[in-house]
Amino acid sequence: MMQDTEPRHMEVARVVQLTDCHLGPDPDFTLAGIRTRQTFTEVLDAIRRERDPVEMVMATGDIAAKGNVDAYRLFLREMRESGLPFAWLPGNHDDFRLMQESVHAAPYWPVLDMGEWRLVSLNTAVPGRVGGLLSREELSFLRNTLSREHRHPVAIFMHHPPLDIGCAWLDEQKVANSDELAGILREAGNIKAIFTGHVHQPVATEFAGIPLFTTPSTCFQFAADSDDFALDDAPPAYRRIELYANGLFRTELVSVASSQRVDTQISGY
Ligand SMILES: [Fe+2]
Repeated sequence: MMQDTEPRHMEVARVVQLTDCHLGPDPDFTLAGIRTRQTFTEVLDAIRRERDPVEMVMATGDIAAKGNVDAYRLFLREMRESGLPFAWLPGNHDDFRLMQESVHAAPYWPVLDMGEWRLVSLNTAVPGRVGGLLSREELSFLRNTLSREHRHPVAIFMHHPPLDIGCAWLDEQKVANSDELAGILREAGNIKAIFTGHVHQPVATEFAGIPLFTTPSTCFQFAADSDDFALDDAPPAYRRIELYANGLFRTELVSVASSQRVDTQISGY
């Protein structure tokens, strides 16, 4: 049968979000009873086995358990071995300066073209602070980018959610100036979805009238509806995102079976 040799118009862009890897400086680093490098590579293996090729992996922060250049090198080595295209952005456990300066070809791409779509990454991390905040520079970057890209559907990726998700201890850490963010997003009018990490659990809600999704961690999960720190024994997961040229999208979670068991008795991490 004759095959069209022209590149086909991309009708759907296939993206994956993974988040909160909490990698340590060495491969055996363990947190809450989980060897975080092992669950991370199990997630990568599952992504590589996706039936349709994944065109971009968005890693939405807390790459490292404690911003450490060896953790970033480990992450980059595993990503390169996986052969998956990827971009990353920082979380509160990361050292963004190290991510940008101390590893070669640090893949922080604030605006990514995926067919008709634009993927915008925001940095909500503030050095020395657990909670999220968007700096003046970040807000004006967002405003400028959205005014340039107003004809394209946009998906936003960032580490901290900008709203409460029902866990009091995590809700204190949401993006502090989320009202300003909501104002910019509402005015833009072409934001189709927001994807965040940080909360180690899946939430599907709305922010500023825009669908918002959080994604479980590649290592251990936090218990839903808990006032204080509490772990849950749900497995690692990643999020599949299909972006259609007409501005519609589909997303679903994919859980990844792991041989490891989380230690739910710990009181912090
Ligand atoms: Fe975080």
